[in-house]
Amino acid sequence: MDRVLSGMQASGKLHLGNLVGALQNWVRLQEHYDCYYFVADWHALTTGYAHPEAIKESTRDLLLNFLAVGLDPDRCTIFIQSKIPEHAELHLLLSMITPLTWLERVPTYKEKQQELHERDLSTYGFLGYPLLQTADIIIYRAKYVPVGIDQVPHLEISREIARRFNYLYGEIFPEPEALLTEFPKVPGTDGRKMSKSYDNAVYLSDTPDIVEQKLRTMTDVGDPELSPVYHLHKIFSSEEEQQEVVRGCTTAGIGCIECKKILIANVFRMMEPIWKRRDELIKNPRMIADIIEKGTEKAKKAAQETMELVRDGMGLGSF
Ligand code: TRP
Repeated sequence: MDRVLSGMQASGKLHLGNLVGALQNWVRLQEHYDCYYFVADWHALTTGYAHPEAIKESTRDLLLNFLAVGLDPDRCTIFIQSKIPEHAELHLLLSMITPLTWLERVPTYKEKQQELHERDLSTYGFLGYPLLQTADIIIYRAKYVPVGIDQVPHLEISREIARRFNYLYGEIFPEPEALLTEFPKVPGTDGRKMSKSYDNAVYLSDTPDIVEQKLRTMTDVGDPELSPVYHLHKIFSSEEEQQEVVRGCTTAGIGCIECKKILIANVFRMMEPIWKRRDELIKNPRMIADIIEKGTEKAKKAAQETMELVRDGMGLGSF
């Protein structure tokens, strides 16, 4: 089976946008590939170095929800990046052969710096973000990397670095490919893209009461195309329901309360199995710890095998 690898940065809680945009796809992929999924807690430090508590909290939220949404530890390997120091070793070694200009011209570098201008991101670690991501990927010699379109520049540099390494030290790394999946962008409760920074997200960890309240108090708009409620219907409701809602809305055949009730019921239907599994997991913290320990052990073995080849190729460790 071909190997798939993907990670999520531990900066914030998972929301419905992450579920529809990434996690449901991860769950599908575990049927067909040898999947490695991890929490990128070091990556969270590149921008969130001043708030270690938040990283800890986010790591817990991510792992719990990975399992709650249906990642199956019998079919995929789940682990935490910082538990595998081999990623850091490879990051260091790759830094020897990566021209600074390659990193400086990654578009996310300047964009993110501007977006988060209140933080000091003139650090070495932040510039190296895509290099660390490269190490994450190629250390498992992964063939496919399911990511959103925003990550394509990172995959591009990963391929370039893998190629440069192979040219210098022998064919060790396959060039990883992005596995782009078409999925609708999930809007938040205000119609903008769902994001923790806009305060418009429905989190997987929200209780049913909170989810209901967030959806019920969305702004009422009498024109479907301008209504954030309708944009959520497009993702969570059936074709017939969408048509019914449009008809009802434009002819005043149904009120906003009813329209939202349909949406709430559909979101609940999707979240109920997740809530149920999450509650079971919360009651059983030992179970999560065991799963992560096993995943880490397996990932570590794979990473160590690669590092033997890398050290040998780079002339290290033998005399
Ligand atoms: N940069 C990714 C994100 O922001 C997270 C990530 C870190 C990642 N390492 C990775 C994704 C390796 C795929 C593969 O979502």
